[in-house]
Amino acid sequence: MKEELNKILENARREFENVPDIRTLEELRIKYLGKKGLLKEILGKLGSLDENMRKEVGKLANSIKNEIENIISAASSSIEKSAKEEKLKLGVEDISIPKSVPPLGYQHPITLVINKMVTIFKSMGYTVVDGPEMEEEYYNFEALNIPSHHPARDDHDSFFFGGGLLLRTHTSPVQIRTMKNKKPPIAIVVPGRCYRRDALDATHSPIFHQMEGLVVDKNISFADLKGTLLLWAKMMFGEDTTIRLRPDYFPFTEPSAELAVTCPVCHGKQCSVCKQTGWVELMGCGMVHPKVLENCNIDPEVYSGFAFGLGVERVAMTVYGIKDIRQFFENDIRLLRQFI
Ligand code: PHE
Repeated sequence: MKEELNKILENARREFENVPDIRTLEELRIKYLGKKGLLKEILGKLGSLDENMRKEVGKLANSIKNEIENIISAASSSIEKSAKEEKLKLGVEDISIPKSVPPLGYQHPITLVINKMVTIFKSMGYTVVDGPEMEEEYYNFEALNIPSHHPARDDHDSFFFGGGLLLRTHTSPVQIRTMKNKKPPIAIVVPGRCYRRDALDATHSPIFHQMEGLVVDKNISFADLKGTLLLWAKMMFGEDTTIRLRPDYFPFTEPSAELAVTCPVCHGKQCSVCKQTGWVELMGCGMVHPKVLENCNIDPEVYSGFAFGLGVERVAMTVYGIKDIRQFFENDIRLLRQFI
């Protein structure tokens, strides 16, 4: 048996001498050291020997196994070395081998909608402005003509901090901050997060995004509001889009309206997204209330303006066919990676 073992080692030395590649090397490794390899075969017969002999042969088998392992690792590095030398001789790397690409980030659908809106309004000469999310009640309500007893406060079920502070319930307080800081002409848009104490369900979220618009100058009329929003709707959803304005009520605009656009999904033909009406309501708007201008020291006899506030999630849900508002805040990578 010892002889057999020595023979195996001898053969191995010869066979491993000129191995051309890694695959052949692996085949040889299996032949000698594999589960059904030559060494295992011998070791299987150890049981038939007497104890002393068994020890001796076992020891020899082990040292031969180690020897063969050394031979294999030497062969493997020499194969690698000659592969490198071969490459160097060619002078170039194989550029057809795919490289690993670092993972790419994706833009959130809310960001995409805001960016598109911002691009459109910038092209019309508007400036982008922001304001604090933790807001003073004065800017969020009073200055917008919503005194503390006003029933409109109930619609803005708010997160209060005490001390006259709350999480803003809309982006409209930035109208006030802007008008107090800057004389007309004013043309701004304000994208941002808002908060209301709404229970979370498929269409309500306590955190959501709005985009406010405000224009103040001499001779601004309701026709300017209508023309601006029609142009926006066409740029946003396509040339065949029209708008519908219906009377509405907001304490800070007079007259006020609710704006709907031709359903961007079915183009007005009626579908489940527009609940078979052909229209999707997207924003509140109106002429800035004279009292609001006065609160900001702007003379309503000289200046007038229009304002609008759009629900960003509503736009994103409509154009991307997202049925549940919660998906915007769960950051499931399977949703996000669809938006490049
Ligand atoms: N701030 C109003 C809301 O949150 C929307 C709005 C903005 C309406 C500007 C009119 C003008 O519902």
